[in-house]
Amino acid sequence: MKKKLGKKLLLFIVLILVIMQFIPITKPETKNDNLTDITKDFPVPQEIATTLKTSCYDCHSMETHYPWYSRVAPVKWMVFNHIEEGREHLNFSKWALLSKEDKLDALDEITEVLEENEMPLETYLILHRKAKLSEKQKEDLISWAESYMEVIFASEPE
Ligand code: HEC
Repeated sequence: MKKKLGKKLLLFIVLILVIMQFIPITKPETKNDNLTDITKDFPVPQEIATTLKTSCYDCHSMETHYPWYSRVAPVKWMVFNHIEEGREHLNFSKWALLSKEDKLDALDEITEVLEENEMPLETYLILHRKAKLSEKQKEDLISWAESYMEVIFASEPE
């Protein structure tokens, strides 16, 4: 009797998982070689660009890499949502379209989330060990953002 119930439960779970795959949801688009990317707008040191690409670009640019499990519901619901929300807040692929004011705001927020260890998101780090920032990477990113802010402050008004 118990064995039969277990089997039924398993079948039920499998059925739910299968049905989940058919719930429509739009996968956020990707695009490489964006002319408005931050690295084309301003000379970003190679090391900083690499860190941003490894730790932030999956959610904060159009150059998202989708691992296989990110295409399977229910994981994909969370992943697609993070990408959409992440891009809304900050999109390095559309950096050149920002006003000076918005760039300053974005850089200021970047230093803030780094200082408070809010980014990259914890759930992301579970399966992306390489994206975890070392203390040095974090400090380098913060000083880069601060010096970029100073360059903007010192530049001609728009
Ligand atoms: C797994 C996806 C993901 C990764 C990777 C990621 N972020 Fe985010 N980020 C988000 C989401 C989702 C939000 C919006 C919701 C929130 O603030 O938690 C966000 C918000 C932000 C914001 C705006 C905060 C605010 O208060 O408006 C900044 C700045 C930011 N991220 C910087 C970074 C930086 C820098 C990195 C890399 C070191 C990074 N993020 C990596 C998903 C991500």
